Amino acid sequence: MLINNDTIIKDSNPLVREKSLEVPLPLSKEDEDLLLDMLTYVKESTDEEIAKEKNLSPAVGISAIQVGVKKKMMAIVIKDNDGNIKYQYALVNPKLISYSLEKAYLKYGEGCLSVPEAHEGYVYRPARIKVRAYDALEKKLVDIKVKDYLALVFQHEMDHFDGVLYYDHINKDNPFYEDPNAVVIE
Ligand code: NI
Repeated sequence: MLINNDTIIKDSNPLVREKSLEVPLPLSKEDEDLLLDMLTYVKESTDEEIAKEKNLSPAVGISAIQVGVKKKMMAIVIKDNDGNIKYQYALVNPKLISYSLEKAYLKYGEGCLSVPEAHEGYVYRPARIKVRAYDALEKKLVDIKVKDYLALVFQHEMDHFDGVLYYDHINKDNPFYEDPNAVVIE
């Protein structure tokens, strides 16, 4: 599937608010291809040259609903400062198994490919989570423990399955409320 700035669904489209469905396993070729295209998007999106050529906005994650497919699939790629891949995931039916009471938030707020306008404020989420999913790269069911930045990215993408966008979590009366017990991620 062609995934770029023009094909990604924005929050002006009510589809982005719809709930995604469980994906039947074993994974069909069609679903696998879509998920791998999503992974390629995220991977290429932070390469300036490719991004410019293919009209991609930089991202660390994408969920299938953002390309108009109501399926619980997400792709995440985190690179280090040299542009080398540090973490990559292509996950099907990820499910939150447990989460910490301690919260974390990004100092500069979250962003989303489906949200062209800026919404400033802190988004608090559990700092550590455990997720069970079918890993399309490892081709098996896995339990994944993630924390801090990666945990926030996981939760942002999984929110898309419920039609939830990051700014739904921002405190409207006090968007920059600082919780002294939360972990600040720079
Ligand atoms: Ni998003």
